[in-house]
Amino acid sequence: MATFTRINKDETPSIIIHPDHIISKIDDNIYGGFTEHMGRCIYGGIYDPENPLSDENGYRKDVIEAMKELNVPVVRYPGGNFVATYHWLDGVGPKEQRPRRPELAWLGIETNQFGTDEFMKWCEIVGTEPYLCLNFGTGTLDEALGWLEYCNSNQDTYYANLRRKNGTEKPYNVKYWALGNECYGPWQVEQFTKEDYAKRAYQWAKAMKLLDPSITLILCGESGFSSWDYYVLQQCVKWDVHGLSGDNTKSLIDMHSIHLYTADKEHMANATAPRAAERAIQMAMSLIDLARIENKVPHTVPRQKICFDEWNVWDPARAPGEQGAEEKYTLSDALAVAVFLNAFIRQSAVVGMANIAQSVNVISPLMTTKDGIVKQATWWPLLLFSKYMRGECIALNVRSPEYTGRTNPPWVRGTIETPLLDCSATLNDGHITLAVVNISEEQDFAVKLEDGADREVMVFRVEGDNVSAVNTESQQNVRVVEDRQTGAREFTFKKHTLTMLRWKL
Ligand code: AHR
Repeated sequence: MATFTRINKDETPSIIIHPDHIISKIDDNIYGGFTEHMGRCIYGGIYDPENPLSDENGYRKDVIEAMKELNVPVVRYPGGNFVATYHWLDGVGPKEQRPRRPELAWLGIETNQFGTDEFMKWCEIVGTEPYLCLNFGTGTLDEALGWLEYCNSNQDTYYANLRRKNGTEKPYNVKYWALGNECYGPWQVEQFTKEDYAKRAYQWAKAMKLLDPSITLILCGESGFSSWDYYVLQQCVKWDVHGLSGDNTKSLIDMHSIHLYTADKEHMANATAPRAAERAIQMAMSLIDLARIENKVPHTVPRQKICFDEWNVWDPARAPGEQGAEEKYTLSDALAVAVFLNAFIRQSAVVGMANIAQSVNVISPLMTTKDGIVKQATWWPLLLFSKYMRGECIALNVRSPEYTGRTNPPWVRGTIETPLLDCSATLNDGHITLAVVNISEEQDFAVKLEDGADREVMVFRVEGDNVSAVNTESQQNVRVVEDRQTGAREFTFKKHTLTMLRWKL
């Protein structure tokens, strides 16, 4: 959490850090990933059996290493829009018997050579937790229950035995399950009205929890501030449900999913667009609280959190989904990603998970070629945040000038501030880390750091010559520069950079 005071451009900004004022524990799952059967994310991304860079399972080893470097705690699968026509049974068992099917979200052909067991094994190798999304389009409740049984059951039952027959004795114990994806959208196969969705989600949730009460269920929200969000929360955030009643520490729904993609051609509108994410989190949390109050959910039932399970910079007109959505990210986009991540840190009291969309090739910081990988500009803020911005969020007071121009979406202006210095701070392993995004294209800021960095400070700076800089196979034009500084009571945050300062408490 940070308080922000607007100052004039000619005044000296300041950042006061309060290491003893801990705001909240940061859930590691805010550094989650997302792999969808879309473009080259699965095939040609994480799975590429013909490529010499792949292991004996067909997994790209360089991608696995990159995921490990990012220390991704949880990965959502198999979609996204793809999931609305996905039948998980097509993707298990002998590969030569798996059906090829037309795929209606991205208008391709799904070969089903990569399915549940391949994903679980990949997660195990990467050291990450699976998060599965259910087919609310053409899928049935029976199928969903079958998938849960296949993944999590230890009993002598049909789907648990099918998993054993397919080579996996022990259950996968998948904890996170989403009740559909973007079911409100006209782009979905089988779009829902909010009334129809809420009715179905409630009934499916009940059945899923009867089969495995230990799972965490994620409701399909929209933006976080729509009548859809309001209605589905009202209908589904309940606790006195058959099978759960009597226990006032449990609820049917555990998290509420929201999505946001931002983009703008102009740098300042692009870099401030993710401020909408922070406002969306605040509004969605109010709707969660409202539903709890109106439905008389006791305080002993844990407060449902936000699952921001798709976020990133993406302009679908520039990188259409049907063509694989291979965005080329600029330094401006990297700064926008850092502003998103700062928002997740500041709002960590209520964000239970966030998943960058996506992890490989599709609107991703990481691109594969047949010879290796390219780390796009957006890779660097993600890596630095994942490495250093864990633990606990601490309080900050920031005085900075503000960007006052056009925003995208327009409603950012007037509902949330757009400081030129966007900051968050954490306490972990006895270290303080301060993340400062100077979004200004023109101005370096010499900032007074109070109660802070007067010892040896490690400096990590994401920088490039200008906000349009991009990385290519041969050139890392956006990179991290590392430095050390001692006794700095004042620090200069250079124009268009993300800087992390880290020092021992
Ligand atoms: O991540 C790309 C797509 O964006 C997802 O499939 C969908 O859920 C969203 O609209």
